[in-house]
Amino acid sequence: MIKFEEKTKQILQELDADIKSDNIYNIENLRIKYLGRKSELSKLLKDIKNAPKEKRKNIGLLLNRTKNAIQTKLEKIKEEIEKEELDKSIKKDKIDITEPGIRPTKGNLHPITKLLYKSIDIFTNMGFEVYEPYQIDDDYNNFESINIPKEHPARDAWDTFWTEDGQILITHTSSMQNRILSSKTPPIRAVVPGRCFRNEATDARHEHTFHQIEGVYVDKQITFTDMLGTLQTYFEAFFEKEIKVKFMPDYFPFVEPGGQIALSCVLCNGKGCKVCKNSGWLEILGCGMIHPNVLKEAGIDPNIYTGFAWGFGLERLIMLKNGIDDIRLFHSGDIRFIKQFK
Ligand code: PHE
Repeated sequence: MIKFEEKTKQILQELDADIKSDNIYNIENLRIKYLGRKSELSKLLKDIKNAPKEKRKNIGLLLNRTKNAIQTKLEKIKEEIEKEELDKSIKKDKIDITEPGIRPTKGNLHPITKLLYKSIDIFTNMGFEVYEPYQIDDDYNNFESINIPKEHPARDAWDTFWTEDGQILITHTSSMQNRILSSKTPPIRAVVPGRCFRNEATDARHEHTFHQIEGVYVDKQITFTDMLGTLQTYFEAFFEKEIKVKFMPDYFPFVEPGGQIALSCVLCNGKGCKVCKNSGWLEILGCGMIHPNVLKEAGIDPNIYTGFAWGFGLERLIMLKNGIDDIRLFHSGDIRFIKQFK
């Protein structure tokens, strides 16, 4: 009996040592070693028959207990191994939410969008409201309401895209003048940034699609100098430098007097360079005092109120500022072009 007790103790100790050394983490090997046919335990079982008869029962119980203990330990190990493997695979598949992400390359705004945002900022700071034009509008708003009746020869100045049902792809943001003037009472200060269309052959200086910012200001005692001051203030804020403005008469049916405004060249400061063709001036926009017919048509009494209006193209402004020589680049979709405007 002593021999059996000692032996079983040894077996369990050896098993513990094997488990601790954890190099035999092959359950099957352990099972064969401790419970297999050639195991110490099997040998002891066979030995029972050599023990004195009255002790055989207790020895049997002892060996059974040992067998159960071995099985329990092996079960436990099996569970541990399985858990470890599961942990490992969880760790492997885990998404580490604390790991810094990979930044996608950052895009940047289109130069026209940038100019729009900046201009809207400047004009709203000066008290102007912002309106968006309809891109497709009617003859009345694009022409008639602003003193360009049907058959008026000035219509030729705007090569127009017509839809089949007689609508117009707006040729200028002046298409909003009547809507704004007739829906508000003076003082009226509004700007209209928007996309315009003209049916012309494209080349380095002409595009069928382009952008303008229109402006109207109507109140009592608004004068020509208010117009010059407003536009000079805008351009100085936009180019962030001192700029001179020069007015040259020109004809637009919706203004009288009407004209073009030129800025002292923003690149050479008026000294003369390639961009201003050595003149020192850049012609930038059409403007003038709103024609009495336009005010009347919008229900505003021209004997009480006066006002001014202007419209300029955004593409040209960007081209001048950045020395770009082909207007078609703006809609080319060429990402290399846009990337230059960080
Ligand atoms: N609408 C004119 C154009 O597109 C510009 C303009 C606007 C001129 C307002 C005078 C006053 O050519």
